[in-house]
Amino acid sequence: MSFKSMPKVELHLHFEGAAPPAFIRGLAKEKSIDISKIFDEKGGYAYRDFDHFLTVYEAACTTLRSPEDFRRLTLAVLEESASHGVVYSETFLSPDFCGGGDLSAWRDYLAAIEDGAAEAEKKFGITLRGIITCIRHFGPEQAKTAARCAAETKGDFITGFGMAGAEMVGRPGDFSYSFDMAREAGLRLTCHAGEWGGPDMVADTLRDLRPERIGHGINAIHDLALVDRIAEDGIVLEVCPGSNVFLNAVKSWKDHPIVRLRDRGVKVTVSTDDPPFFHTTMTAEFDMLARTFGWEEDVLSDLNKTALDAAFCDPATKEKIAKKLELSQ
Ligand code: ADE
Ligand code: ZN
Repeated sequence: MSFKSMPKVELHLHFEGAAPPAFIRGLAKEKSIDISKIFDEKGGYAYRDFDHFLTVYEAACTTLRSPEDFRRLTLAVLEESASHGVVYSETFLSPDFCGGGDLSAWRDYLAAIEDGAAEAEKKFGITLRGIITCIRHFGPEQAKTAARCAAETKGDFITGFGMAGAEMVGRPGDFSYSFDMAREAGLRLTCHAGEWGGPDMVADTLRDLRPERIGHGINAIHDLALVDRIAEDGIVLEVCPGSNVFLNAVKSWKDHPIVRLRDRGVKVTVSTDDPPFFHTTMTAEFDMLARTFGWEEDVLSDLNKTALDAAFCDPATKEKIAKKLELSQ
């Protein structure tokens, strides 16, 4: 059985990382940019490990040079997500990749993305919200420019602030200025941690940046007292099992800690992270959870409810999406 048509909520999707390789190849051709080495012989993205993945990701981003490119990307990404039943998606957007962190350029990129999102909502019935994301390995100073863009453009569409990138670079506290700025602006917070770092990285992130959601967070499993604290505090984990397996953050689907985390009371949700990079989709994630752990429709539909509860959008949007989830039951 496939869960393709089940309505789904996705909270953790890197926008450029969701770009189909053919879309990036098309832009590269239009602009005569030679990035042929980032593709394998079948046309997919080619990389050796996580660090190399980040390099290839940034190379792909060099083809995205204008607001119009991002408007087209929005339509391509949302059409694909909607085809897998996603009715609500939160995506990570980085001003660093949209005009180099300049606020007025960022406003132009954002307007184009919002245009694309409005068109996609009409055409494909999917709602998008944006989480502005600083890139950890670009350093704390550049993170401040992302946080400033976030604070200045917070609204119905930009609802959150977060951090992605190379987790083992620096410590969470290096970024507290940016997270404080975003929090004071009224943005909701999430942060990648515990994908590569151990439980200490998750604990430091919670202490120093005070996010309400953690991207991945899977390595918390190595400290059960921390897992219990995460459960008690209602911290939501944006778990991306297919990504973790593909990048070797965990050995196999069977070994993935999502079941142990959930069984201990942690609020877990499921997302694809960078779907074409990891040869996954929301359908594939749900199908693999069912096949590997015997999770049935009630558990999978709980994942969607938890995700909608933890979504950063306004109550009216949540209500609209909740109806779409209920209608399917
Ligand atoms: N940027 C894109 N995908 C990422 C991931 N899985 N971890 C950290 N940063 C990322
Ligand atoms: Zn991620």
